[in-house]
Amino acid sequence: MFLLYNIIMKLRKLVLKNYRNYEDFEYDFSKNKTLIIGKNAQGKTNILEAIHYLCTLDSNRIKKDSELIMFNKEFANIKANVEKIDTDLELEVLLNPPKNKILKVNGIKKTKSRDFLRVLSSVNFSSSDLLLLRGEPQNRRKWLDMAIFQVYPLYDEKLSKFNKIRLQKANYLSQGIINNDMLDVFNQQLSIASANVVYLRMKYLMELERVAKMKHSAMAQNEELKIKYQTITDEFLPVKELSELIYQKLIEIKDDEMRRQQCLIGAHRDDIDFYINDIDSKKFASQGQQRTIVLALKLAELQIIKDKIKQTPLLLLDDVLAELDNLRQNYLLNAIEDDIQMVITSVDTLAFEEKFLKNVDIIKISQGKIVE
Ligand SMILES: Nc1ncnc2c1ncn2[C@@H]1O[C@H](COP(=O)(O)OP(=O)(O)O)[C@@H](O)[C@H]1O
Ligand SMILES: [Mg+2]
Repeated sequence: MFLLYNIIMKLRKLVLKNYRNYEDFEYDFSKNKTLIIGKNAQGKTNILEAIHYLCTLDSNRIKKDSELIMFNKEFANIKANVEKIDTDLELEVLLNPPKNKILKVNGIKKTKSRDFLRVLSSVNFSSSDLLLLRGEPQNRRKWLDMAIFQVYPLYDEKLSKFNKIRLQKANYLSQGIINNDMLDVFNQQLSIASANVVYLRMKYLMELERVAKMKHSAMAQNEELKIKYQTITDEFLPVKELSELIYQKLIEIKDDEMRRQQCLIGAHRDDIDFYINDIDSKKFASQGQQRTIVLALKLAELQIIKDKIKQTPLLLLDDVLAELDNLRQNYLLNAIEDDIQMVITSVDTLAFEEKFLKNVDIIKISQGKIVE
């Protein structure tokens, strides 16, 4: 089916049980814009994180799902009602380690994450993203992975497979109990798994660059944004060729890996570079220039979901509006079409204009509860 227009998607209801500091949370979203107000550490980000988790089955604040479960509880449950055109969909995740998480759509269990991932879509933009360029490579990889989960249905499985093999190999290496033959078997598997991940990351970033370039130049004339995936090669190659390159390299560094007892190359070591007029932005761009880049990236993520999934994603803005100067704040709000649903957090309403506040629902949060 080819759609010329986007499906309008709305999050109608969110129910949390034992999720972070919410023992019982239930909220019906009635307006297109919802503003969550609360002091620090009351649970504002936790709500956005829960929504984003339904879209990506991951969070940039966790290493393991179990961190999402309320302290001293055994399970956590996230449920949402989503409306698309005239249909209502119910999404549910049950986290109950050490068992695998249970995913349901309309009450029916889904064993493959790909059958769950594209029901609800969102772009999460938090004040900490403004530091994306300054931060560690692992933050950039996590941001990229979460953006890709939502548009390439098989990516989650490919990334999990890569991580599984890599961790097994790392485990053998660290115990110093690996011989040449075993290492070679791992390397053959790992080069294919790594190539699958690298390929999709490169593919997504090329698309992202194309869109982000336009968004970026609208804010910063005379500045050209380029994005480059930093990996074993600069060329965008088919998976088979990528995997051969990685395998060759793994043979070259075999002794090194044994000596240092670590996996030294692969998708888990890659990074993303950003350039403005061919100058490395991670090193040389001003704070303002870096923010403009991040803003362009987020708007591009949104656009790509619209183009690929043909549905309007939610925009989750975590503490970010108050952090942006007027110019960038206005640019962001004007760039978002009215049909995009937004959930915004802030410590107070001071950063918002009267006009904006007229059309929003305000929830006040204190210690994991809605107050008033
Ligand atoms: N697994 C958990 N169980 C219970 N409480 C948690 C858990 N994880 C985080 N919290 C609590 O959540 C609060 C932080 O929530 P957060 O949404 O980040 O706050 P903010 O309102 O500043 O965005 C802290 O009080 C923290 O102790
Ligand atoms: Mg927060």
